Amino acid sequence: MSSAEEQAELAVAELRSAWGVQPDGVWAAPGRVNLIGEHVDYNGGRCLPLALTRVTAAAARRRDDDRVRLASTDPSAAPFEGTLADLGPGAVSGWAAYAAGTLWAVQQAGVDVPGMDLAVSSDVPLGAGLSSSASLEAAVAIAAAELAGRDDDEALRHLLIRAAIRAENEVVGAGTGGMDQTVALLAEEGSALLIHTRDLRTEPVHLGLAEAGLELMVIDTRVSHTLADGQYAERRADCDEAARQLGLEWLSDAGPADVERLADPRLRARARHVVSENQRVDTVVELVRAGRVAEIGPLLDASHASLRNDYEVSAVELDVVVAAAREAGALGARMVGGGFGGSAIALIRPGDAEAVGDAVLAACRQRGLAEPVTLTVTSGPAARRIC
Ligand code: GLA
Repeated sequence: MSSAEEQAELAVAELRSAWGVQPDGVWAAPGRVNLIGEHVDYNGGRCLPLALTRVTAAAARRRDDDRVRLASTDPSAAPFEGTLADLGPGAVSGWAAYAAGTLWAVQQAGVDVPGMDLAVSSDVPLGAGLSSSASLEAAVAIAAAELAGRDDDEALRHLLIRAAIRAENEVVGAGTGGMDQTVALLAEEGSALLIHTRDLRTEPVHLGLAEAGLELMVIDTRVSHTLADGQYAERRADCDEAARQLGLEWLSDAGPADVERLADPRLRARARHVVSENQRVDTVVELVRAGRVAEIGPLLDASHASLRNDYEVSAVELDVVVAAAREAGALGARMVGGGFGGSAIALIRPGDAEAVGDAVLAACRQRGLAEPVTLTVTSGPAARRIC
């Protein structure tokens, strides 16, 4: 059974046990892993994530009144009960802020969201830098739009992306960019998604990993991070300040010479990361399109070094697993997502999977760090109706 089918069944069972109803439909949306283009999405840059086959499923039943009842199979996520009028900023907290906040933002975007009973189930690991939150938002958003009778087309998907970003920024209070929500709603199976983040224009980029005899491994350090904490916001503020000092709307419009004009060494380092990371994205896209995906390893390595040294968002666990993966034969490896823990990716040959897995485990044990979990990932589809 696929991850989506399994999570759909669990969500339906939860809807029955929590709220005693059968669903009108079940929707699922994927987590993501970012191949390259980290911490550029709020700087008007380019990134290249792919959707995972792991999903959050949402089973939902339309109600005739304005009540909203939300439940999750996660035992630490308490059920939420409210009305359509009280889902916005300040009204909800915890996991429900993602789900209720999305319903609020979809309503704010002009969709006539009905009252509903809803239950979710997910196998996207939480806090692993794999965007469990955007998968929850996207699943709830598409469920709400379809319960409201909207046709699923590209215009609707763009509306839902904006709403999910708004929910995260204004209700959850995490000032994240739009990479995660965009890939959750627009990904294409078998491809990565090149996102031009300033206008959310996207282009699928066929990866051809299997054809090249390669695999992407995710190494979850199992050290949790929360994006709502101060570090992410501080990086964002540094970038805004660097762009302001350079007289630019977007820091991604800076060139290497502009970076050198910044007097403050910290802002200079942050800008150096953003400018060089956008260049790396462009080079990776060129290589992949030319059928040379096996050559992107050094760019992954360079991205990690830039995130560690210039952007300062890595963590000892990430540095250890990245180094161990490379020593055990990975062609390239880097941290992914917001940082401060979470996951790394390694580009490997399938025959090296066991050696890389053993090496990262041994390296973490030797240093007394949490034991990482590895999984091989393939590119899955975007948010969709399951049944
Ligand atoms: C988190 C955010 C994204 C993005 C990444 C870093 O995943 O949700 O918007 O900024 O960090 O690339």
